[in-house]
Amino acid sequence: MKKLIDNKSIVLGVSGGIAAYKSVELLRLLIKRGANVRVIMTQNAQEFVGPITFEALSGQPVCTSLFEKGGDVSVRHIEWANEADAVVIVPATANIIGKLANGVADDALSTFMLAVTCPVMLCPSMNTHMFENKAVQRNLERLKADGHFVIDPESGELACGATGPGRLPDPEDILDRLLYYLSPKDLKDKRVLVTAGPTREPIDPVRFISNPSSGKMGFAVARAAEQRGGKVILITGPTNLPDPNNVTVIRVGTAREMAHAVFENVEGSDIIIKSAAVSDYRSKDQAEQKIKKEKDEMVLFLEKNQDILEELGRRKKDQILVGFAAETENLEQHAERKLSEKNLDIIAGNLVGQPSSGFGADNNKVTLFYKDGTKESLPEMEKDDVAHILLDRILGVR
Ligand SMILES: Cc1cc2nc3c(=O)[nH]c(=O)nc-3n(C[C@H](O)[C@H](O)[C@H](O)COP(=O)(O)O)c2cc1C
Repeated sequence: MKKLIDNKSIVLGVSGGIAAYKSVELLRLLIKRGANVRVIMTQNAQEFVGPITFEALSGQPVCTSLFEKGGDVSVRHIEWANEADAVVIVPATANIIGKLANGVADDALSTFMLAVTCPVMLCPSMNTHMFENKAVQRNLERLKADGHFVIDPESGELACGATGPGRLPDPEDILDRLLYYLSPKDLKDKRVLVTAGPTREPIDPVRFISNPSSGKMGFAVARAAEQRGGKVILITGPTNLPDPNNVTVIRVGTAREMAHAVFENVEGSDIIIKSAAVSDYRSKDQAEQKIKKEKDEMVLFLEKNQDILEELGRRKKDQILVGFAAETENLEQHAERKLSEKNLDIIAGNLVGQPSSGFGADNNKVTLFYKDGTKESLPEMEKDDVAHILLDRILGVR
């Protein structure tokens, strides 16, 4: 959620691990989301990445030592601690974890950390044996008990050649977990069913009817709902997007598979958000073998797929049902008709064909139409932000 970190003061602590380079990308992502980021590096972190990189990207001086020469003799670590809205340590070495767990304050980062009162997130990253070492595990448990949020490292091949837990998650995932950590849990225990992406209707074994939906909008909604404490099931057609953290993902191909998955999982949902671009029609006959281009013309018979949203609207009892309408013209008219015909609470309409918003883009420009006849036009914004505003409005429905 942009407003969660927009204009907020975030301190990025960097300690001396091989994954220190990934914190540069995290800094870039935080800045992009409007945060005011200050960086504190340990002495050893500077063996891996130079402070100048962080300085250039953050636009702020980087704190590398408690006793910096020149300028004012400041108590910068205390000032920064007082001003911080959140702290992330990426990567967190076994050493800084040990120091923080024991209240050691022998450099700029560890001293600063003793003065911090805001939420703290730690991202440990190290060799597998180091990570599994009893002392490190004990220290991590202690930090969790102290109220810090610790992200589990990923398993995989590590820079040191070992395979196992210890790898730092990708910066996008770290940002996602920070947003999770900082988000109010206003969807706690709510069951949220989201659909995303296109469907593919086969014509023969190598061809299909589909559309350019990338799934980005639905994935953004699923991520946002999870960050806010929802129990999320995401049913998606074919996309290249990775599974969102902590979300049950069901991947399907055709509209019929999507319908089956939706009706299997809809039971118990509190909120249903259907952003998938489901094919209205499928090929009537599916050739068993690849169709050869022997004729100059060929006729393809199509038959209608079930209208999943309409069926959900018919079955709706105590749920909130939200649809999307991607239109090329007369957005308002089409969206309002769909809203009432399908018994929806909200419909998010957008005009496709704009290069910077809609299918495949990271941004979207939507108008929300409500069942009481009112509407709200949102400016173009990132799909993640559209997702959070949509969830805000859903929570306001009752
Ligand atoms: C090439 C190299 C890579 C290292 N990578 C890691 C690492 O990924 N995680 C870790 O905990 N320590 C790693 N270390 C060890 C730390 O740099 C060392 O424990 C140091 O004291 C950490 O200091 P700091 O926590 O003050 O930055 C590495 C050391 C070297 C030489």
